[in-house]
Amino acid sequence: MKILIIGGHGGIGNAILLLCQQRYPSAELHATYRQTRPQSQPDEVTWHQVDVSDESQVHKLSEQFTHIDWIINCVGFLHNKHQGPEKSLASVSSDFFSENIRRNTLPTLLLSKYFTPILKRSEAGKMAILSAKVGSIKDNRLGGWYSYRASKAALNMIVKTVSIEWQRTCRKATIIALHPGTTDTALSKPFQANVPTGKLFTPGDVARDLIAIIERSTPEHSGRFYSYSGEELPW
Ligand SMILES: NC(=O)c1ccc[n+]([C@@H]2O[C@H](COP(=O)([O-])OP(=O)(O)OC[C@H]3O[C@@H](n4cnc5c(N)ncnc54)[C@H](OP(=O)(O)O)[C@@H]3O)[C@@H](O)[C@H]2O)c1
Repeated sequence: MKILIIGGHGGIGNAILLLCQQRYPSAELHATYRQTRPQSQPDEVTWHQVDVSDESQVHKLSEQFTHIDWIINCVGFLHNKHQGPEKSLASVSSDFFSENIRRNTLPTLLLSKYFTPILKRSEAGKMAILSAKVGSIKDNRLGGWYSYRASKAALNMIVKTVSIEWQRTCRKATIIALHPGTTDTALSKPFQANVPTGKLFTPGDVARDLIAIIERSTPEHSGRFYSYSGEELPW
């Protein structure tokens, strides 16, 4: 089995990478990082430096594979040192909105474009994308977080639309969106104060939950959105 973890240097991505190594010792593992190659990581992992918002870099990455079984996209963005998610319309900015779309939405579209012909060669190809429940339009009760919510809702639409194209062109493959729950990583750090007791998960726990969902998924689950608990979420 050949597995590619996109964003294997992030909090959840790295936990998924380490779990894959334990769980599938004979798998060929590949992972991407953006800027700094993670230190003291298993030798067996082949690392690729890629900004997955850059089409030419995603294309170049895809050219290094003739076969792939699983792609797990763990890349995401919520805040930078200048701005965090908007509390109200007054703090919306076009730059921050564009950055959310570029880092939360575009990578999955580019990965789908360049890796579909490669996943097609697998008997049970899978593409699992880390989304977020706040991207569910039906579930939106609190408002705010315009850019992040919109970028994850758009990501969810891409997952659904790719699943429809794959019914014709890549029938043995499965694409699903996953909500990890609030997980203790750099991304959620500034927003952890109000998380109810027992609802802030470790990356290791989340990795176990998400891998179990990915293992169980088949083409009939394609184009769906699952929470870490296994519950199907509304779009
Ligand atoms: N943590 C949570 O509570 C939570 C909740 C719901 C959903 N999620 C989703 O789960 C996923 C993983 O989040 P996390 O908590 O593991 O966050 P994280 O620790 O911040 O990891 C996200 C990773 O994405 C990388 N990245 C961002 N843009 C990139 C790009 N254009 N090219 C390549 N890499 C890029 C970041 O790299 P740099 O460090 O180089 O920027 C970072 O390593 C995200 O999609 C997030 O939206 C997380």
